[in-house]
Amino acid sequence: MKITITKDLDKAQDVLFLGLFEEEKDNGKSFSKELAEEVEAAIGRKAFSRQFGEMYATKLAALPYKKVAVLGLGEKKDFNTEKVRQALGKMVTATKGWILSSFTTNVVEKARHDKVDQKLLGQSAAEGLLLANYGFTKYFSKEKQEKKKPLSLVALQSAGSDEFGEGLRIGRIIAEATNVTRDLVNEPANVVNSEYMEKMARQVASQYSSVKMKVLNKTELEKEGMGALLGVNAGSSNPPKLVILEYNGSKKGKYTALLGKGITFDSGGYNLKPTKYIEDMATDMAGAAAVMAAVKIAAELKLKKNLLAVMPLCENMVDATAQHPGDIVRAYNGKTIEIGNTDAEGRLILCDALAYTEKNYNPEVMIDLATLTGACVVALGYYAAGVMGKHDDLLHALHEAGSASGDRVWQLPFFEEYQDWMDGSKSDLNNNSQKGKGYEAGSITAGVFLSKFVEKAKWAHVDIAGSAYWMVDGAYLNKGATGSGVRMLAYYLMDNEEKE
Ligand code: BES
Ligand code: ZN
Ligand code: ZN
Repeated sequence: MKITITKDLDKAQDVLFLGLFEEEKDNGKSFSKELAEEVEAAIGRKAFSRQFGEMYATKLAALPYKKVAVLGLGEKKDFNTEKVRQALGKMVTATKGWILSSFTTNVVEKARHDKVDQKLLGQSAAEGLLLANYGFTKYFSKEKQEKKKPLSLVALQSAGSDEFGEGLRIGRIIAEATNVTRDLVNEPANVVNSEYMEKMARQVASQYSSVKMKVLNKTELEKEGMGALLGVNAGSSNPPKLVILEYNGSKKGKYTALLGKGITFDSGGYNLKPTKYIEDMATDMAGAAAVMAAVKIAAELKLKKNLLAVMPLCENMVDATAQHPGDIVRAYNGKTIEIGNTDAEGRLILCDALAYTEKNYNPEVMIDLATLTGACVVALGYYAAGVMGKHDDLLHALHEAGSASGDRVWQLPFFEEYQDWMDGSKSDLNNNSQKGKGYEAGSITAGVFLSKFVEKAKWAHVDIAGSAYWMVDGAYLNKGATGSGVRMLAYYLMDNEEKE
């Protein structure tokens, strides 16, 4: 999608969208008397209100567009950059629904006031537009694809500024990388396996000279003693892998390691998932796909930062060779783990990845992203990932990045009382909680398990089980994979560059 900035509304486009704040009681009369009268009548018969997100569409002979629509923007004081994403997202979706291919709007200009950061405004505009224009349509027939065709052009009416233009450029990079992640997560498990993920990572490494790649295959994983990761893959015919992308963007500063759960299908193993829970489990590599995108963004933006994306890649399957409930495995750091539940596999691949990363790269910060627990979906639903850890400054920074990017994280407590809930009876740890009925505080106990594999680094765990894949449409993210974590990480990294 091309995005242009024009001083006036662009009359050459298919659709015109005018934003209307609650306060604009004249319904934009100065722009078009005819439209204002029609909108007033629509308000009268309750077909429209200027509350945020309401839309009224019509066609007016006096205006050169195929369709003209007004979008309620709510009260001026509540309008912010996330609302810009949402408003533009709604316009994209509506235009697509009318099978038209371009629009012009004054909404970005309406968001301009002294307190709004122009760069953030540009980022939000590009993100709202490009994320909403995404669709996973590659397996549709031509005719079906035609009905879901993405828009080709959006003309933003804006006075513009260098910062706004720079924001648009950055937002496009972030959104396009997010959409690659969404493709990877939406693809089924008969396409995306560990080798496919490795191939995608290799593409990133070959595209940027600042990015190097390292792959540990089964023999090396065995040699290194990653028994927890190997146990998870034991029932799969796809090979296990630990893929590491290393981005060097600064002469100063230790690594920030981003780790992502890369289960290319989670059947649950012998603790098999039931119908209604198993079907979407090709998405269980969303964490790995997100950290890969974060490195791509850092390289594209040339961020002054040293970064790692660490992706343990496995498949959790049932087979004669699969691990049994009750097995005991030894992790990279020497700790033994009883397999209380073969379906709690994410923590098993991540614990080896965390311990390996800390020992071999000595990072200052480690952030893991994982579709880790159903409990997180129950607790937070879709609209925030759960975040936990022991370093308040890091948790705070991630929260800020989540709010600014609209890719939210919400902190779950890491109370002292939970810290022994994952202790094993025959071994050091159990991968399933041993207190109560076992499922209480399921997201927190999973986080506690991971924490036992981190020694010195500042660490945070982000559970994206609910936020990575939506069962409903949002304002700018449609149903399916969302790329959860990518924007949050990108904003966090941009805010925390090394000062050289
Ligand atoms: N991949 C799942 C978690 C999940 C659930 C992700 C729903 C996305 C949507 C994870 O591996 C899992 O199965 N977790 C178990 C852990 C339990 C056995 C301790 C769960 O949450 O039920
Ligand atoms: Zn599982
Ligand atoms: Zn899983």
